[in-house]
Amino acid sequence: MTAHTVDASPVVLITGAAKRVGACITRALHSRGLRVAIHYRHAREDAVQLTDELNLMTPGSAACFQADLLDTDALTMLVADVVTHFGQLDYLVNNASSFFATPLGEITDAHWDDLIGSNLKSPLWLSQAAMPHLRKQQGAIVNMADIHAERPMRGHVVYSIAKAGIVAMTKSLAGELGPDVRVNAVAPGVNLWPEHHPGFDDATRAEILSRTFLQRAGTPDDLAGAVTFLLLDAPYITGHVLNVDGGRSVYL
Ligand SMILES: NC(=O)c1ccc[n+]([C@@H]2O[C@H](COP(=O)([O-])OP(=O)(O)OC[C@H]3O[C@@H](n4cnc5c(N)ncnc54)[C@H](OP(=O)(O)O)[C@@H]3O)[C@@H](O)[C@H]2O)c1
Repeated sequence: MTAHTVDASPVVLITGAAKRVGACITRALHSRGLRVAIHYRHAREDAVQLTDELNLMTPGSAACFQADLLDTDALTMLVADVVTHFGQLDYLVNNASSFFATPLGEITDAHWDDLIGSNLKSPLWLSQAAMPHLRKQQGAIVNMADIHAERPMRGHVVYSIAKAGIVAMTKSLAGELGPDVRVNAVAPGVNLWPEHHPGFDDATRAEILSRTFLQRAGTPDDLAGAVTFLLLDAPYITGHVLNVDGGRSVYL
């Protein structure tokens, strides 16, 4: 057991939390004494493994929940299941995302539904479902945006629209939910190269990094640190978007 009394610890729901950046955010928030609701869609094995790892450190501090965020009914149920399991919900991190190119002229309904659904609609629906619980706990939300919300990514029209939308949503909800609930966003540059995306060959990666002031990619830990700061250590910050991009957005 850690020094924390697990039953009284605040609870955070992190979407897309089984792997990569989401898992890193989950570990960071858990290390700050939070109980973690680990959402996953397909990555069941990773989610169970992470849950077991964290429960070994602090029994009862982690549980995992499956949901396809494109299923609107599942979003309300996800929040309800987390609250039933842990008895409360204090924080929400909207991290899950799909990411692929949608060249103009080839955009389909399915592309729109997937990219807007995972990156924009589900964060709004989850925030709405979580609202009474977060208000009660005087909690906070952090949304994962992208520096391409400000300056769109070539060939990625729908993804760029979705991330621009989540920045607008962050500011809008900061107003709607204040003063009870703070709402902020983290906008990564390159922190972890995409897993299944053909558009990032070695030459492209080198070109992107050459236009980054710090001349290197960031890490998931950089993002987890920013999320932890905005969620737990920034009581007078709301409606803010924090770029974590090594300075890249200045020259994008
Ligand atoms: N990595 C970077 O450098 C970078 C750069 C810019 C922005 N970001 C943003 O930072 C966040 C984390 O980045 P990442 O690279 O770790 O993300 P990622 O690996 O591309 O995706 C995270 C998770 O999202 C889940 N997901 C996707 N569609 C879903 C759906 N319909 N329903 C439920 N879950 C769904 C997947 O869960 P399952 O695997 O369980 O299916 C996936 O593991 C994202 O919001 C991303 O847009 C990251």
